[in-house]
Amino acid sequence: MNSKESRQKRIKWFTDARFGMFIHWGLYAIPARESRSEWIRSVDKVTDEEYQRYFDTFNPTDYNPKEWAKLAKEAGMKYAVLTTKHHDGFCLFDSKYTDFKSTNTPCKRDLVKEYVEAFRAEGIKVGFYYSLLDWHHPDYPAFNDAHHPMRGNENYKHYGEHFERYIEYMHNQVKELMTNYGKIDILWFDFHYDDMTGEKWEASKLIKMVREINPDVIIDDRLGGDIRAEEKPLYVGDFGSPEQMIPSLGLTDYKGNPIPWETCMTLNNNWGYSQKDENYKNARNVINMLVQCVSKGGNLILNVGPDARGNIPKKSVEILKEVGEWMKLNGECVYNCTFSGIEKHEFGRITKSDNAFYLYIQDHSGEHIAIYGIPDKIKCATLLCDGSKLSMADPWNVDSYRVEGKTAHYVATPPYSQLNGNGNVIKLWIEK
Ligand code: GLC
Repeated sequence: MNSKESRQKRIKWFTDARFGMFIHWGLYAIPARESRSEWIRSVDKVTDEEYQRYFDTFNPTDYNPKEWAKLAKEAGMKYAVLTTKHHDGFCLFDSKYTDFKSTNTPCKRDLVKEYVEAFRAEGIKVGFYYSLLDWHHPDYPAFNDAHHPMRGNENYKHYGEHFERYIEYMHNQVKELMTNYGKIDILWFDFHYDDMTGEKWEASKLIKMVREINPDVIIDDRLGGDIRAEEKPLYVGDFGSPEQMIPSLGLTDYKGNPIPWETCMTLNNNWGYSQKDENYKNARNVINMLVQCVSKGGNLILNVGPDARGNIPKKSVEILKEVGEWMKLNGECVYNCTFSGIEKHEFGRITKSDNAFYLYIQDHSGEHIAIYGIPDKIKCATLLCDGSKLSMADPWNVDSYRVEGKTAHYVATPPYSQLNGNGNVIKLWIEK
C-alpha cells in the first residue's frame, strides 16, 4: 500500500495524463467576490447567519456537467477534480451527516453525482477535492484558529471543544465520497496548517479506510508530512501539489529521485468565480506552463470557477478551446512525456517520450535550431502539427559559430507560414 512499487503503479495513469481540470464551485459563486472568492467567509469575517442567504438562494439552473466534461475533453484534459466541500463547509453532495448541502438548497440536486456521471461518460478520470477545514461545523476550532471567520470572537470559544466529533464527521464524509460514487481516481485534501496536520486529522486511520475501499485512488500531499522524505507515513500521499507556481527544478526526494507532482493554477487570479477578475492568462501562457510542467516531470491542473448559475465563464471557455486546438495537433509532446534530461535551450522547453524528443519552439532565430546534449542517435525530425519532414543537414552558415566542446544537432526552422502563434513542436525521432 505504501511501498515505492505500489505508489509507482497507481500513479502511472496520472503522470501519463499530465493535464487536468480543477473546478472550484460552491455558495461563494454568489457573492462572486473580486479577491479570494472562496475565502470570503474568512477574509470578511462573514457569520453563519449572513452566509445563510447564499444557501437559501443557491439555484444553479444552468448546471450541465456534460458541457463541462465536453469542454475539458476538448481542451485535452484527461482528469478533473471538483470541490465536493470547500472551507465554508458547504457540501455539493448528498451527505447524510449534514444539512448544509446542495440537496437542501432550492437546487435540490446532488451536484457531485451528476459531475461524476458526466465526466466518466467522456472518459475523463474523476477526482474529489475535500476541505479539511470546515467553517460551518461547530466542532471545528474557531476562536484560536488562524483562518476561521469567527477567530478572536469570544462567542465561539466553545467551538472545537469536541474536535473528535469533527474528525468523526470528516472521516464519515470521506467514506461517503469513496463509497457512494463508484471508483474515484483522485482524492485531493486541502490543507494542513499550524498544528492542524498529520495525526491531528487522524490521517493514518483516514487513509487506511480510504485505501481499503479504493486501493488505487491517488492522493495529494496536503494532509501533512514531507513528501520528499524517504520514509514517510501512509498519509503523505502520492504527489506534490505546488500552488500557483511551477518549481524551477521540478520535484525530487532528498536524494534527487523524481517525485510525481502537479501544479495547480488559476486561469485568472481566483479559484472560485469572481465577477470582476479579468486577469486571465491567454492560451499561449497556458500551453507554455503545461509544457514547462511536463519538461520538469510534472502535471498541470488548471482551474475554472463556474458562476452561480452553473456556467463556466465565457472567457475561460474561449481560452480552453484555443488550448484544445493546439493540443489536438501537439498533445503528443505532453501525454506520456516527461523531462528530457537535456538542459533548457533558448528556443523553449524540451520533453521526451520513449521514442522521441519534443522541442517546443517559441523563439525562432533564423534558418535552423541548434540542440545540444542529445545522447541518442536521431533518425529524423518532423513538425508535429502536420507531420512534415524537417531537414537535419548541417547548415553551411554555422561553422564559425559552433560552441566549443559541445556537439549540436541542427534542425531546419519550419516554413514561417506554418509557424503557429501558440508555439510549434518539433519531434526528433530516436533511433532504436
Ligand atoms: C488553497 C486554498 C484554496 C484553494 C486551494 C487550491 O489552499 O485555501 O482556496 O482551494 O488551495 O489549491
